[in-house]
Amino acid sequence: MPITCAVYLPKDDKITGWVEKLSAALPEDFTVLPMSAVTDPATVDYAIVWMPPAGMLAGLPNLKAIVSIAAGIDHLLADPQLPQDVPIIRTIGNDLTQRMREFIALHVLRMHREQRRMDTAQIERRWDPVTVPPANYRKVGLMGLGNLGKAAAQTLAMLGYQTRGWSNSMKEIEGVTCYAGAEGFDAFLDGLDTLVCLLPLTEATTGLLNATTFAKLAPGAQLLNAARGGHMVEDDLIPALESGQLSHATLDVFAVEPLPADHPFWSHPQITVTPHIASMIDQATGVSIIAANLQAFEAGEALDALCTPGKGY
Ligand code: NDP
Ligand code: OXD
Repeated sequence: MPITCAVYLPKDDKITGWVEKLSAALPEDFTVLPMSAVTDPATVDYAIVWMPPAGMLAGLPNLKAIVSIAAGIDHLLADPQLPQDVPIIRTIGNDLTQRMREFIALHVLRMHREQRRMDTAQIERRWDPVTVPPANYRKVGLMGLGNLGKAAAQTLAMLGYQTRGWSNSMKEIEGVTCYAGAEGFDAFLDGLDTLVCLLPLTEATTGLLNATTFAKLAPGAQLLNAARGGHMVEDDLIPALESGQLSHATLDVFAVEPLPADHPFWSHPQITVTPHIASMIDQATGVSIIAANLQAFEAGEALDALCTPGKGY
């Protein structure tokens, strides 16, 4: 019996590449096809998906696992009909962690070194020297110390920042002062110069980037959200920038993506917008990780990428 893998992406034009490359990367006993080409849902063993419509996965009665073409699984858990007993494998790996390290280092440094001001001055042909305190005078906090957050925290600590991290369970990371749980949140936030969000989107983390949180940071603090748009109360951002509580925000993720063309974030001088590219999964990386995970799962091997049932991320 072939092992059947059905691929779904909201943008149809990208599916052919994923199907062809996954077929080439997997042994012959795997058959890979677009979800739209499935004639008998009962034959599908693996659904490999990004943002499937609600009910799609419930219509596949014999799934061995669902593969999220993303590190986050919020796009699956949002489906009220998601089959509860099917394991979920997320897509994580060294290249994706490396990309996130780069993105976080780049934008924490850009904000700290006031690069937006330099860019504006160059456009206006103005010589505008500015000195800012070095990294070791600045307190940076990472919300989320998982696969991505831990690596980003280590990178920032290596750059010299006074680095803090916050997670559900207490961690020990060299060079990083760690806090955990709701009881550790205020101490974590207290006086931070830069707050970075790398949390999964869950009921507990939705809306955590809000006016109350911003007020606990140092005046003029900087914000970097590379996790999910739902972590931030969007209406609280511009007032915090205009009051001076925040001085800049860099946002890679939004409540609605793509960010609508008339959204005020696009043109705000203290906001940097990037289009959900912090650690985007390209086909080559995604295919090699997913092919390896599928074969390991079939062989019954332990998988770091297997989500713990009921954990919510
Ligand atoms: P992990 O699941 O590996 O880590 C999540 C971290 O968040 C863990 O440290 C966890 O704590 C912590 N956490 C979860 N819930 C809470 C809570 N209620 N309070 C405090 N801490 C909490 O996730 P990844 O690092 O792989 O990815 C994080 C998120 O980044 C993804 O879910 C995704 O949304 C986003 N992402 C964005 C990308 C982009 O391009 N913009 C690319 C890839 C991912 P504990 O360790 O104790 O479990
Ligand atoms: C992810 C993402 O979760 O790209 O992997 O956002």
